[in-house]
Amino acid sequence: MKAKALKECDHYTAKYAECATGRTFSVVWKCRAQAKELNNCLHDYTNDKVLEEMKKEYALQEESKRPVGFDIGHFPSFHPHNHHPHYLSPTPLHHNNHLPLANTPTLKEVPCKDRRLKQRSRFYGMEKTRSLLILYATETGNALDAAERLGREAERRGCPVRILSLDEFDPARSTSTLPSEKFVIFVVSTTGQGDTPNHMKAFWTFLLQRSLGRQWLENTRYAVFGLGDSGYQKYNFVAKKLDKRLADLGGIAIIEKGLGDDQHPSGYEGTLDPWMSSLWAMLYNENPLLFPKGVNISVSDMKMLHPPKVEITYLDSHEVYPQSLAEIDLKSFEKEIVTSQSMLFGKRSSDKSKPDCFLKMVKNHLISRPGCGKDVRHFEFEALSSTISYEVGDVVEILPGQNPEAMDAFIKRCNLNPESYIIVKHRNKDDFLEDGVTNVPINLKRFIELTMDIASASPRRYFFEVMSFFASAEHEKERLEYFASPEGRDDLYQYNQKERRTVLEVLEDFPSVNMPFEWLVQLVPPLKSRAFSISSSVLVHPNQVHLTVSIVSWTTPFKRKRSGLCSSWLASLDPNQRVCIPAWFHKGALPAPEPSLPLILVGPGTGCAPFRGFVEERALMESKAVPTSPILFFFGCRNEQNDFLYKDFWALHSQQGKVLSEEKGGGFYVAFSRDQPQKVYVQHKMREQSAKVWDLLSKGAAVYVAGSSNNMPSDVLAAFEDIVAEEGGVSREAAVRWLRMLEKGGKYHVEAWA
Ligand SMILES: Cc1cc2nc3c(=O)[nH]c(=O)nc-3n(C[C@H](O)[C@H](O)[C@H](O)COP(=O)(O)OP(=O)(O)OC[C@H]3O[C@@H](n4cnc5c(N)ncnc54)[C@H](O)[C@@H]3O)c2cc1C
Ligand SMILES: Cc1cc2nc3c(=O)[nH]c(=O)nc-3n(C[C@H](O)[C@H](O)[C@H](O)COP(=O)(O)O)c2cc1C
Repeated sequence: MKAKALKECDHYTAKYAECATGRTFSVVWKCRAQAKELNNCLHDYTNDKVLEEMKKEYALQEESKRPVGFDIGHFPSFHPHNHHPHYLSPTPLHHNNHLPLANTPTLKEVPCKDRRLKQRSRFYGMEKTRSLLILYATETGNALDAAERLGREAERRGCPVRILSLDEFDPARSTSTLPSEKFVIFVVSTTGQGDTPNHMKAFWTFLLQRSLGRQWLENTRYAVFGLGDSGYQKYNFVAKKLDKRLADLGGIAIIEKGLGDDQHPSGYEGTLDPWMSSLWAMLYNENPLLFPKGVNISVSDMKMLHPPKVEITYLDSHEVYPQSLAEIDLKSFEKEIVTSQSMLFGKRSSDKSKPDCFLKMVKNHLISRPGCGKDVRHFEFEALSSTISYEVGDVVEILPGQNPEAMDAFIKRCNLNPESYIIVKHRNKDDFLEDGVTNVPINLKRFIELTMDIASASPRRYFFEVMSFFASAEHEKERLEYFASPEGRDDLYQYNQKERRTVLEVLEDFPSVNMPFEWLVQLVPPLKSRAFSISSSVLVHPNQVHLTVSIVSWTTPFKRKRSGLCSSWLASLDPNQRVCIPAWFHKGALPAPEPSLPLILVGPGTGCAPFRGFVEERALMESKAVPTSPILFFFGCRNEQNDFLYKDFWALHSQQGKVLSEEKGGGFYVAFSRDQPQKVYVQHKMREQSAKVWDLLSKGAAVYVAGSSNNMPSDVLAAFEDIVAEEGGVSREAAVRWLRMLEKGGKYHVEAWA
């Protein structure tokens, strides 16, 4: 096998040489070089836990780089009875897993070395020693916020900064390559189960290349600030591995990495503030020219307010939009969404701002017991515009509507004219959009409704700082300045984040503040779409999509009732009204399984959503005499009487001979966590059925886990490790390795959400 892969590598190496004409290559950068690099990387790392993880990651990356169509079935199974045709066995437990390397799904274009050197000499100017590059990677916006904060603080000290998302910064192609940068600050969050944010993936793959060498960053000083949550098993994993890799590439850390923690009483800012102060001091030591105004800036610099990033042009309504708001049709609605999103986020038209379709709710059913303390709904939607297309396991994103009274109150509070039409432009991004969508005026009220989260999300700290500039009452100004200061940070966290204070509430608490609309557009948290795992099969329900949604509500420390924006909005909809819901469909972490693949599903709570679709579809296949494999499903809820979601549905498909039936080799098991004195969860039920789990695993079953992102995925993984170790008669380490291989072989999937 290895020989085969090496042959393949040689093929690509030759192809690479053939194409070496000084241009950049996208296709040919594939095989041997990178495989070798990754191999070599392995030798660079030693001891600690993170590095161990990194080694595994590298090894597994190698492992995953099999050629397309690679027949994993050629690897020997470690189970003697494994004859299932769809068995996708990981490597044997007792083997050292150095599997063939080939045909890497690759990096972006990589320039030839000469070109890189040329770029480097051209851009390695003196000014780089007096400026900072801040690179961030975010999933939900916190890292961007932290990056902007660092940028503002540096600018206040007279230091020019550039702030870029890691996907905007291609270290190989960009006119400014990473080694030509003197001072770089990385602000990166960790998502999923220790994963890099999406926008960092290409950068990270690039950074793993061995060809970069140990001196690649020898002229670069770097600092890493991570955002994470110590409640997760892989706490700040991305920042840790990035820091290590930068050091291995010759970069010199300006300061020990900072690790922001959601669990800190002040959130990630609890670490960011002191870390940032040390960073400025270290940088100043290194090069005082970086901060012409010094590290400890004057009060007047502290109170410096840059102009807002957006410019707004107001137009008269009759000139621009003859249609009344009541007449808005789907096409216009679509246009408004594209226009408003591009104005707010500077999205290109190629980005997915245009909804895939508009949905209309046709069913809104409570599926938990009324008054039990949990409100879970089964929603059904039909497409209003184009037909619906998705596979089981996919995700739909929904843009929630906003409360009309809150909108009116916001407009009144900010003295805005709801009838006016506006064009919003980013000051420094005139050339950002290709097709001029930003030049299309939009009604001000619609803009707010579609892009600004005024009555749900809490504003960020900078919002309070900017508010202080526009407060006319002295006591309000003082309070706002205190909130924005390091001393006031904890109090702000209690007042704002902990209480989930909304923008509207904050503005009402500080009535003397008269904030210009430009600033509001820039600083009000953007209205975000919410993702939901689809709980239906489109083959069973043509042109429909079903969701299983837990309606979020809680009480704050000051006993204020709060509710989740999107789930409560959906729950409030009446299927008899024609409310248009913008929706985007995309692939999630759960690929649709072939009917003949045996499945082990673990989905407590609303984690059962995608598996309802799986079961529906497999039952349909069975009814059409398509050969199907069994499904073993572990569901969990609090009480049998209260939140046993879709009880009858599971019972129906567990009947004799059906997809979930024991006769077929599957099964349906429920953990009622609160129906007895001791807590029982899905992992306990799995252990009870360990022989069955093992049997299906041995037959090549794929594992799918969905639901809460907190402890559940790691508890479930631990249960699988126990089962594999005990039933397979191997050490725990071997079981862990085996499950990792299962994951890398595309047979262990987790979709988890907070
Ligand atoms: C890929 C994916 C699939 C998903 N699938 C489903 C699904 O099938 N079904 C489903 O119900 N959800 C699913 N979700 C979650 C869903 O996207 C939303 O996050 C969820 O519905 C809440 O959104 P919301 O707008 O109602 O709440 P938001 O307005 O976003 O409020 C939620 C936030 O409120 C805060 N909060 C919530 N509870 C508390 C509390 N007790 N104390 C303090 N703060 C709290 C937290 O900060 C939380 O992040 C999925 C998420 C993802 C990423
Ligand atoms: C779905 C999800 C998965 C997460 N996974 C991890 C994790 O594995 N490790 C960790 O340290 N933090 C994890 N976090 C916490 C985030 O890193 C933290 O909230 C951070 O502030 C988010 O920053 P961002 O908004 O820039 O993405 C996770 C958060 C979410 C919502």
